[in-house]
Amino acid sequence: MGRVCVIGAGPCGLAAVKNLLQAGCRDVVCYEESGGIGGNWAFTDDPGRVSVHECTHTISSRRMSSFDDFPMPSDYPDFPSHGQMLAYFVDYARTFRLGPHIRLNSRVARCALGGDGRWTVEVVADGETRQETFDSVVVCNGHHREAFVPDYPGTFSGTIVHSSTYKRPDPFHGQRVLVVGTGNSAADIAVDVARVAAKTALSVRAGAYIVPRLMFGRPTDAVYALWRNRLPRPLLQPALKAWLRLAIGRWEDYGLPAPAGAPLEQHPTVNSGVLDALRDGRLVAYRGIERYDGHVVHFTGGRRDEFDAIVMGTGFRISFPFLSERVAGWDLNRTPPLYLKMMHPTIPSLFFIGLLQPIGCLWRLADYQARIAALQISGRLRRPADIEARIRREVSLRRHPSPRHAIAVDYRAFRRELVRELRAAQPHCAVRLPGWGRVAGPSGAGPDGLSAADVVAGSARDDRLTRRTDSSGDLRIGSASAASKSIRARLPEGRRPPTAGGL
Ligand SMILES: Cc1cc2nc3c(=O)[nH]c(=O)nc-3n(C[C@H](O)[C@H](O)[C@H](O)COP(=O)(O)OP(=O)(O)OC[C@H]3O[C@@H](n4cnc5c(N)ncnc54)[C@H](O)[C@@H]3O)c2cc1C
Ligand SMILES: NC(=O)c1ccc[n+]([C@@H]2O[C@H](COP(=O)([O-])OP(=O)(O)OC[C@H]3O[C@@H](n4cnc5c(N)ncnc54)[C@H](OP(=O)(O)O)[C@@H]3O)[C@@H](O)[C@H]2O)c1
Repeated sequence: MGRVCVIGAGPCGLAAVKNLLQAGCRDVVCYEESGGIGGNWAFTDDPGRVSVHECTHTISSRRMSSFDDFPMPSDYPDFPSHGQMLAYFVDYARTFRLGPHIRLNSRVARCALGGDGRWTVEVVADGETRQETFDSVVVCNGHHREAFVPDYPGTFSGTIVHSSTYKRPDPFHGQRVLVVGTGNSAADIAVDVARVAAKTALSVRAGAYIVPRLMFGRPTDAVYALWRNRLPRPLLQPALKAWLRLAIGRWEDYGLPAPAGAPLEQHPTVNSGVLDALRDGRLVAYRGIERYDGHVVHFTGGRRDEFDAIVMGTGFRISFPFLSERVAGWDLNRTPPLYLKMMHPTIPSLFFIGLLQPIGCLWRLADYQARIAALQISGRLRRPADIEARIRREVSLRRHPSPRHAIAVDYRAFRRELVRELRAAQPHCAVRLPGWGRVAGPSGAGPDGLSAADVVAGSARDDRLTRRTDSSGDLRIGSASAASKSIRARLPEGRRPPTAGGL
């Protein structure tokens, strides 16, 4: 199985290292360019570093955002803060003993595939560049890191910042601020800025579904998952539309254009605060920007207004600066040609984890992808022979043409695809998978009551069962509530420092 290089120690990189170790890979090195783990969730005030904002809470709810084998503490709120999320990821890394495999302050500058099928990885650390050789590369560099800032005619005389470097509202105190976009970044920031700004406006170029965080008193994603399982497909969208109409009323009353299509067909904005702010006047909605003229911004439809600052909540670009054009020179406004959004069409030793945009939690699906990659790297799962045909089919299934939806997946359908791929490993799993416990034959249940498929898929009982390693590195299966108690006991009162040193 050889040496494996993991790039990035965000939630997806951590899941990758954990799965590789559990599949028996011993020589795993994870390079992380920052000084801590947790990726986006390691909030920093450093304007040069991308992170979540000081006000960020998850939009995917606690129950829907736990790794299958590592539930969040039961006393976490429905929508944990970034500090709680970072503590969760640090605890995950500590529990699965990932620390010894993570090299902080180490940026991967280049990965080159040699004629012998091995990778030369150039790593910059402590101002020095050195080369290491690996058999496989697992890319987990995140796709919410490189800002996309649209250009408009004219010149704006105020300041323009992107959501990726927005930290807190203080710099906008008393200013006239325009927030651009209707994604989750724009919505969070508009509400945050409106607390201190003299005036806050939201530029909306097209209608979008903005969904309250709660539905009948429960997190919207949890209710949606329930409806998605129970309601016949043709009833789902009308039921959601009817609920939304009853819950929030008419879009015109918020000054917003009505969205096209059905709810949750596109990546939704989950934010009750922005709807409230639009109704009580803390926030006003304008149309798309047409051009700048000094401090004046002209909007489509003829409206114009003066602003001191613009915050672009206009999304991100996908990029792999360490891979050559030959390896990953795709037009990233289109769906990348990767099977299950992770397997390269021609290079079996290269994997991408977390390169997807689900309506739901991202790292939970990334954990399944990581399991597939780990099984392939450890030789327990064969790469599909007809991978190019599968990629063509997957790319043709893209539902929404905008660049923002290039890597969108339907959470439930995509999870099913990943589980199907994992089941192909089932016969091999009659052998013990280190860390995943002893598994019975292909169809029988093991002593723990889980069938091989349950364990390999790791999904069938994810809400009730949890698998954790004990001190000997073996697997324990217990009830989620018992596990939550012990995790709570291990989490200190305050936040833990976001370093890998103490893992
Ligand atoms: C404000 C905000 C809120 C969000 N809320 C949610 C949510 O509620 N639920 C949800 O599912 N998703 C959410 N997301 C999406 C978010 O991207 C994921 O939560 C998650 O962070 C993705 O994990 P990742 O490991 O793929 O990427 P990241 O968290 O971006 O981590 C990537 C890591 O790779 C490192 N890295 C990058 N390049 C290199 C290199 N060349 N060498 C070494 N290291 C490198 C980076 O330093 C970073 O630590 C949110 C995103 C934002 C911006
Ligand atoms: N609290 C949270 O948990 C939280 C907070 C922030 C972000 N996130 C997550 O982080 C990820 C990124 O979110 P994001 O909001 O930063 O990006 P995003 O989802 O890509 O949204 C980008 C927004 O910018 C608009 N836009 C794009 N190009 C534009 C242009 N040229 N002119 C005007 N508007 C343009 C888009 O409009 P169109 O739809 O018209 O293209 C969209 O409204 C998502 O997964 C999101 O859920 C979560």
